[in-house]
Amino acid sequence: MCGIIGYVGSQDATRVILDGLKRVEYRGYDSAGIAIEAGGKLAVAKRSGKLTSLVTELAAHPLPASGHGIGHTRWATHGGPTDNNAHPHVSADGRVALVHNGIIENFAELRAELEARGITFISQTDTEAAAQLLALELAACDDLTQAMRLVCARLKGAFTLVALDAHDSERVVAARRDSPLVVGLGEGENFVASDVASFISYTREALELGQDQVVTITRSSVTVTDFAGNPVPTRRFHVDWSPAAAEKAGFDWFMRKEIFEQPRAVADTLLGRTTDDGRLVLDEVRIDAAELRLANKIVVVACGTAYYAGLVAKYAIEHWTRVPVEVELASEFRYRDPIVDSRTLCITISQSGETMDTLQAIRYARAQGARVIAICNTVGATIPRESDAVLYTRAGPEIGVASTKGFLTQVSATYLLGLYLAQVRGTMFADEISRWLGELGAIPDKIQQVLDQAERVYALADSLKTTQDFIFLGRHVGSAVALEGALKLKEIAYLHAEGFAAGELKHGPIAIIDETTPVFVVVPPTGAGQLHEKMVSNIQEVRARGASVVVLAERGDTSVLPYAEHVLELPITPVLLQPLTATVPLQLFACELATLLGNDVDQPRNLAKSVTVE
Ligand code: F6R
Repeated sequence: MCGIIGYVGSQDATRVILDGLKRVEYRGYDSAGIAIEAGGKLAVAKRSGKLTSLVTELAAHPLPASGHGIGHTRWATHGGPTDNNAHPHVSADGRVALVHNGIIENFAELRAELEARGITFISQTDTEAAAQLLALELAACDDLTQAMRLVCARLKGAFTLVALDAHDSERVVAARRDSPLVVGLGEGENFVASDVASFISYTREALELGQDQVVTITRSSVTVTDFAGNPVPTRRFHVDWSPAAAEKAGFDWFMRKEIFEQPRAVADTLLGRTTDDGRLVLDEVRIDAAELRLANKIVVVACGTAYYAGLVAKYAIEHWTRVPVEVELASEFRYRDPIVDSRTLCITISQSGETMDTLQAIRYARAQGARVIAICNTVGATIPRESDAVLYTRAGPEIGVASTKGFLTQVSATYLLGLYLAQVRGTMFADEISRWLGELGAIPDKIQQVLDQAERVYALADSLKTTQDFIFLGRHVGSAVALEGALKLKEIAYLHAEGFAAGELKHGPIAIIDETTPVFVVVPPTGAGQLHEKMVSNIQEVRARGASVVVLAERGDTSVLPYAEHVLELPITPVLLQPLTATVPLQLFACELATLLGNDVDQPRNLAKSVTVE
């Protein structure tokens, strides 16, 4: 996600901020910018592209000397990655500069309100609404800290904000709700940043902030309050990570870090998609409701992990909309003369938005008259650009080559799309849709409960570190989880692993099972009735062949205990949503096993993050 830094001190703020931004480059970004205050005025430089573009701009047009500034690397969410949408955003009166990480859910409402008051917006970002609002509050109270509190009280969503006031040469003010922010405590200088990596070369002393807090830094002081202005306790800590470890927030691999980011990534993907009365609004899906109602078939095209997200989507979308869904490997799609016409809705799923097989598949689908909706994580990438509509997942940059948070956010986005189609086509009642949205809203906490068991998964990986072959079984949506679990292990542990729909086992694959084969079984929730019972029988079948069984089962499901060597508990979840929790232990298992085998987890052999050739 975005990298943020604010600085007050006696060093050259532009240099310190650029240095801090370089250290968070690993997070991925598509534009960068800096604002400083000098002599009662703000000076801003911002550029789309990499930091080198900003450095070139600064060399051509240096900012005045200052010890007081803010900086940002942006990963586009609202508005494409242009110079204009880059942060910092300056208010129309020129007094406030603001940088932001997160998503302001009610920005459209705020923007309309501010435009009605005569303020002209110059970007497509949600951030600019906060900058303009902050300037209005500041004009009224002339105190940046107080103005920030008032603004935060009006914002919905998740955000870190850092602001600078042209009339105040002392302070940088920051606020956080559900997005990261730490304070760096220096000698005669202080920092705020989304990440300790930004200030680790200046100080290793830091303050941890809680939710819904506002912090004001000067050269010699740090003041933290809640949004109502009450002082709050903070926790001081010493950062003993190396700069390289700091990039990964102390994790050994980006992949592991990204697995642990999933509660937030899924929450962000779900944010701001409903109106106050509970209706689902997917503003980005700009395909006419009448056209969506006319569609008589949905085709999902994707590759690899994204294809498995499509397999999950099929179960959910067909169940909710009663429209037939075909899931196609993008690399096969256009070579088999598929039946696609103007009543076909094509959903394409791609984390990078640049996968060539997927791109060619959607070009083909559009040429046959189909409308294409892209589910994508990268704003402005080729696939969303060439689609009719796009629903962005908001996972933030995924750096580990093996996709983790990409998968969970893709699955979440397909659920949103399925419910939206059901709403538009009238195949579900509004209360049913809001019940499902409620279930989805509970998922980030449930993912966290699974992550809290990581040590058990690591111990399991240690006990299986000499094993060569693994089998993964699932039923219903769990069969896609089995495929994804096997793929993760192949990709990074370089081990033979296969995933099957459990009912298929007896039709052939059971022949390969013996006492050397651990079998991971994704057990449907007990509430799934027959599905659950059938899976218990499948477990017995593999046990009878001597296999050791690792079950991933709902908490309290005692029926599987007699047949399992290892049990990993899953929170209680409707079967359709179970992939969002059940995939997580399999990601952790693969990551740990690959680590124990000494492999490069983030850059596995033979693989590229974005496959831009057919
Ligand atoms: C697996 C993995 C790949 C990608 C596939 C599609 O961990 O990362 O299988 O899922 O190459 O990539 P995107 O989603 O970028 O189109």
